[in-house]
Amino acid sequence: MTTVFGVDIGGSGIKGAPVDLERGALAQERHKVLTPHPASPESVVAAVAEVVGHFGHQGPVGLTFPGVVVGGQTRTAANVDKRWIGEDAAGLFSDALGLPATVLNDADAAGLAELTYGAGHGRGGVVLVLTFGTGIGSALFVDGALVPNTELGHLELRGKDAEHRAASAARERHDLSWPQWAERVDEYLGMVERLFSPELIIIGGGVSRKHEKFLPLLTRREAEVVPAELRNDAGIVGAAMAAAKSG
Ligand code: BGC
Repeated sequence: MTTVFGVDIGGSGIKGAPVDLERGALAQERHKVLTPHPASPESVVAAVAEVVGHFGHQGPVGLTFPGVVVGGQTRTAANVDKRWIGEDAAGLFSDALGLPATVLNDADAAGLAELTYGAGHGRGGVVLVLTFGTGIGSALFVDGALVPNTELGHLELRGKDAEHRAASAARERHDLSWPQWAERVDEYLGMVERLFSPELIIIGGGVSRKHEKFLPLLTRREAEVVPAELRNDAGIVGAAMAAAKSG
């Protein structure tokens, strides 16, 4: 069994577990700590060290980050502490853990996991994975190959950053009913579809657990729209996949 460690760094929690890459599933129950506030690089690195240390893991570690990541460097920080901008995140984690570390965008990680083990398994053509949470994350695939850091949550919708209108957090913030929120998601998907003509759109993020509340309310479109299958574990699994690949 190939076991690599995956860590998902989110706005509220930092969770990690060893991952069984043959099954695309957690090899042990995950361990979670609350995301420190402010989520400065130092405090997040310490929290990650606690999660990885909990398992006494030795070997490669993959980590997700909710922003643009290029060559291990974190470049944007829409919903996290701005001190991450321009950090050598992979270097920071690797030094603190004493282990090889790979960092990638959170939605890209979730997308990799869904395309390999979940709702997009074996699908070619243009596939788009969208995660609805604090923000909207996107992962674009062309015949199974990822185009990283697409950041489609920041497309402009009605003069605003789309994620401010249509992320799951917007539903909570504005106390929207499911039909009201579904209307916003629908408009957003319409825009994305006009731009990319995907054959398949996979809806992920925590809210995908409640897909029966909003997916049936969406307008019929050319693309097939389905819920993610790995749900909460997609980020951890995808992070481990990325670490295994670069290791
Ligand atoms: C960030 C993306 C991230 C998404 C989901 C957005 O605000 O810019 O990089 O994937 O939130 O966390």
